[in-house]
Amino acid sequence: VSAPDLELREETPADHEAIRTVNRLAFGGGDEAHLVDRLRDAGDVIVSIVALEQGAVVGHVLFSRLGLDCDDGAVIRTAALAPVAVPPDRQRRGIGAALISHGLALCRARGVQAVIVLGHPHYYPRFGFSADRAKSLRAPFSGDAFMALELAPGVLAGRSARVRYARAFGLD
Ligand SMILES: CC(C)(COP(=O)(O)OP(=O)(O)OC[C@H]1O[C@@H](n2cnc3c(N)ncnc32)[C@H](O)[C@@H]1OP(=O)(O)O)[C@@H](O)C(=O)NCCC(=O)NCCS
Repeated sequence: VSAPDLELREETPADHEAIRTVNRLAFGGGDEAHLVDRLRDAGDVIVSIVALEQGAVVGHVLFSRLGLDCDDGAVIRTAALAPVAVPPDRQRRGIGAALISHGLALCRARGVQAVIVLGHPHYYPRFGFSADRAKSLRAPFSGDAFMALELAPGVLAGRSARVRYARAFGLD
């Protein structure tokens, strides 16, 4: 797996249309493209990164603000990873992994202490996500696909909390 000429950087307004296109191609519909627009409009984006090859957008990942209401009153800065999108003709070359790794590093640099994802149980553990870590979190989701990652080691340990996704997800 290699994508040697990959450039990763944060989105700019000039990327918005290409981000919509990449999300449509990856998901085969407009739901995720709209989700990205709504998260951005609401000011709930923490990190949004594009991957470029020869100047063309070939992937996108977004991390949004997530509320974590801890039963012990602790305040934990938390992000949701979603969506991540690589068009079918570019998949399995490491673009998704590069986007996620870079995004997690930026989240850490911005003080994010934990990240939640709902995704493929085979894919996300390689970045450190764990379904076990997410078990004490009350969310609209549960099971193997609902995973958590501690960017601040131990921050979720022994803690139960309720997860509140940004309004744009429409989960309230
Ligand atoms: C998930 C996705 C972002 C991965 O991007 P990518 O650039 O192909 O990923 P990488 O090259 O870093 O890694 C490839 C791995 O992704 C997994 N993968 C790729 N496409 C997949 C798919 N449609 N379903 C499940 N797993 C998939 C493969 O199992 C592969 O794992 P392996 O390394 O064990 O073979 C990309 O496949 C995609 O956009 N899929 C459609 C949209 C989606 O489901 N997004 C995630 C939910 S928000």
